[in-house]
Amino acid sequence: MFDRPLFLMTDPGCFDVSYQINPWMRPDAWKTDPAGALAAAKAASAELKRAIQALGAQVETIGAVAGLPDLVFPANAAIVLDGRALLARFRHEERQGEEAIFREVFCRLKRRGLIQEIADFPEGVFQEGAGDCIWDADRKVFWAGYGPRSSKASLAVIEKTFGEEVVGLELASDRFYHLDTCFCPLAGGKLLYYPTAFTPAALAAIRARVPEADRIEATAAEAEAFCVNAVNLGARIVMARAPASLRRKLEARGYALTEVDLSPFILSGGAAYCMTLRLDRESRPGRAILAAE
Ligand code: ARG
Repeated sequence: MFDRPLFLMTDPGCFDVSYQINPWMRPDAWKTDPAGALAAAKAASAELKRAIQALGAQVETIGAVAGLPDLVFPANAAIVLDGRALLARFRHEERQGEEAIFREVFCRLKRRGLIQEIADFPEGVFQEGAGDCIWDADRKVFWAGYGPRSSKASLAVIEKTFGEEVVGLELASDRFYHLDTCFCPLAGGKLLYYPTAFTPAALAAIRARVPEADRIEATAAEAEAFCVNAVNLGARIVMARAPASLRRKLEARGYALTEVDLSPFILSGGAAYCMTLRLDRESRPGRAILAAE
């Protein structure tokens, strides 16, 4: 159905940092020069889009909506696999208005045949999309973060909806509040992650499934630069400006980096991965619902 990877992004035209729902968000810094910050954000988003297209992927851009600045983080819209989208329920009121917008986006994608099925979490169960639930294509499991944003009860819903194994990972701190800020499976079976962000039980679950030779540990400086929040296709990784230490580590394992200055979005606590949402993922080749029919 898809001849190349397809990512969703959002027009950054209504982006700003006007509230604070995670410790990185700096409304004051934004306010010192909103016009300059917005111009920088638009340039950064365009550069990210180009970087992803340069990897051979297609990018579909949805429109901005006034009053919903964090709509620029579509990773939080839904969990998508095999043509099925399980729509997010946001914990914070500030983002709950995005739910209706993303639902409309997915209904439109369904009309175009790019999505086959839309599902929901039961009321009261929070889950913030692919930002907290990452498909590991090599291991054929979902890794699902919970604690700061997503409810633990979301894990069973994900498992039932997709019929895939879900490994729950409890996040230990408000600073790494979505799994995608501290955990990034890479093609080929390697894992880039920031151990400090996880509870001891979560770390044990990671280490039980990913052998030491495949684990690439990010330092605090690397994680705080939002570099674990990366987009990976094959041997290529797109991420925010990286400390040289991380570049060396990844290049030594055979990965090539494209760095983009995403500082306007880091002011909101997000970077490359969460500014996108992959729509074409199939658990096993040919598994997409449409392809099976
Ligand atoms: N300001 C947004 C929030 O706190 C940033 C979201 C970033 N998304 C992510 N998946 N890490 O919700």
